[in-house]
Order: sequence, then structure tokens, then C-alpha cells
Amino acid sequence: MKLKIAVLPGDGIGPEITAQALEATKAVCQKFGHILEYQEALVGACAIDATGNPYPDETHTLCMESDAVLFGAIGSPKYDNDPSARVRPEQGLLTMRKKLGLYANIRPITTFPSLLHQSPLRADLVEGADFMCIRELTGGIYFGRPQGRSEDGTTAYDTCVYTVQEIERIVRLAYTFALKRKKKLTIVDKANVLCTSRLWRQVSQQIEKEYPEVETEYMFVDNAAMQIIRQPKHFDVIVTENMFGDILTDEASVITGSLGMLPSASIGIHTSVFEPIHGSYPQAAGKNIANPLATILSAALMFEYAFDLKAEAQSIREAVEACIAAKVVTEDIAGGGRAYSTTEVGNWVRDFITGYHIA
Ligand code: IPM
Ligand code: MG
Repeated sequence: MKLKIAVLPGDGIGPEITAQALEATKAVCQKFGHILEYQEALVGACAIDATGNPYPDETHTLCMESDAVLFGAIGSPKYDNDPSARVRPEQGLLTMRKKLGLYANIRPITTFPSLLHQSPLRADLVEGADFMCIRELTGGIYFGRPQGRSEDGTTAYDTCVYTVQEIERIVRLAYTFALKRKKKLTIVDKANVLCTSRLWRQVSQQIEKEYPEVETEYMFVDNAAMQIIRQPKHFDVIVTENMFGDILTDEASVITGSLGMLPSASIGIHTSVFEPIHGSYPQAAGKNIANPLATILSAALMFEYAFDLKAEAQSIREAVEACIAAKVVTEDIAGGGRAYSTTEVGNWVRDFITGYHIA
């Protein structure tokens, strides 16, 4: 099979971790006899510096013409510390999500036995936790208008907007995932306070009737934040709106031991994007210390979702598992043990995939 992918390394540690995910991707293509064609493009702060636009038209064209997008991370302290900056790197990511129609962000939360001790939760709570958070990605308060400041600058406002159609498509998608898993769906909202959440609940209650084989539950977001920590094994598939999903998935990620382990897939109308859920970690940029595994696991999701190549995806996951079991890990999950560099971890995974490894 011929795979045409766009590679968008972005800012901070983005280029380093994406390089390792690309190595893993090349190794898989070599092993399974696929032809990989890839091209890099700018996004984020580096794109602003080069072109003034965080998501340049050339980048969008490349994404549209590719079968999948492998994305690193964006963001820079230069902008974080300047709330008055008119153009911001994050706008690049949001514009990309909107223009590619990426309305669903899928974040699988799985645990690795050899990493259980890294979790801030007790091992007995975490062991075997395996759920998936489906976050609506192109609506809600991230995109609602009006958004801005009053003329005198003393008031600011954001608007949360959802349409029936936006809610329907994401909830339906969540049911299709639930059907393939343990058939349990938790719909997270704040229907006791927010009007948009009440619409979510009303629409969901209609769709629920079409999926009698799935056990549906409704949970307020504050309670969900608590239950994810209290009993992570309770969950199978969670679906929620944009901002709740952003917050809950950072929380859920540490259950696995590190934010540096969690991949994601953004899917929708045009080309799908695969990216780690963590940010650009600027303090670590260029130091060769960042954990590349979330991005490498995002490449696994790419094989699975964009190309329907499950064995290929599995070979990446096995390599990552072996790598963690062999304790070839970066400092964030090294505990007291030796911390390996980004490239050492990436090379280990690559060599395991190609079968050159002597364990
Ligand atoms: C994420 C990130 C982004 C978001 C930021 C960088 C805009 O936190 O993908 O979770 O809030 O969606
Ligand atoms: Mg986030």
C-alpha cells in the first residue's frame, strides 16, 4: 500500500518527538512492504515566525492532499507570556481542526503493567484501566462567537455554542466505538447548569434509544473528574464536549503514569490528524530528553484509523510495550532508574519493529 503522510513537527519538542514517530513509521512500512511518501510543513509558532500565519495555506493544502497527518506539538513561551499577542500558535491548531473538519478527538487511556508504579494512584485502582475519551473538537466554547473584550477592556467573554447536528454526529460516533468495546457509554455534561449541556442530554437521550445494546449513563463533569481518579476502571467510552474533554483527558493521562504516553487521533470530514495529547514542553526543546512514546503511539493510531492496518499498528504497540518493559525510557518515567534520551528510546522502538533487536 502507498501511504502519503504530512508531517507537522510544530514547536518545542515537536520536531524531536515527530522524528522518532517517523522512524517507527518507516520501520513499519519497511517490515510490511508499504511505500511511504511524506512531506513536512510548518504549523504553530515556527509558522508565525516564518510566514506570519500559524497555519499557512501551503500547510493546509498539503494536509488536504495527504492520507494522514502526523502532528507534533505547538506553543511557545514567547506567546504564552504575552496575552496581548494578536496571532497565537494555538490558533494554528484550532484553524487546522476546523478546516479539516476534525470534529472528534479520540484519546485512548491504557495502562502499561511496567509503568503502574509511576501512576499517582494506587496500583490496584489503575491496573487494567482501559477506556477511551471521545472529545468533541470543533465546537463549544473554543469556537463560539461572540468572543472578546468590551470596549473599555474591563469585561471579557467567550460563548459556548452547540447545534443538534454537532451533538448528534459525535454521540453517534461514540456509540459506534462503544459497540466495538465493552458496550458502555458515559455521556459527560453539566446539564444542571449549562444550556448547551441540556441540549447535549436531550439529543443523547434520543440517540440512546437506537443503541439498546449499549449501557448508557449520564454524568456531570465535576463528578466525572472525581470518578476518573476514584475508579478509573468504571469507564469504557466517555463522550463529552470540547473543553470538558480537554480537561478530563489531561487528568486521565496521568493515570497511566505520564502525560508523555498518551496518543490521540482527530477524525472527521477530511484528512485525520494523529498527535500526542501533551504540549510543546519548551523547557525540554533541543535537549533530547522528551518522551517520544505518545507520538510513536499516535503513529500506531494512524495505521489503525487512517489506513485500517491493524497488524502494523499492533507492531508499534508491541515495540513500545517491550521498550517500557526493558526500561529504555525517558526521565519522566524512569523513576529512579537510568533516563534514556529521546533518540535512544526512538531507536530502540525502531529496531524492535524491524527485528534487529537483541533484547
Ligand atoms: C489539546 C491542547 C490544545 C487544546 C491547545 C494546545 C490549544 O491542550 O490538544 O488538548 O486545548 O485543545
Ligand atoms: Mg489539552
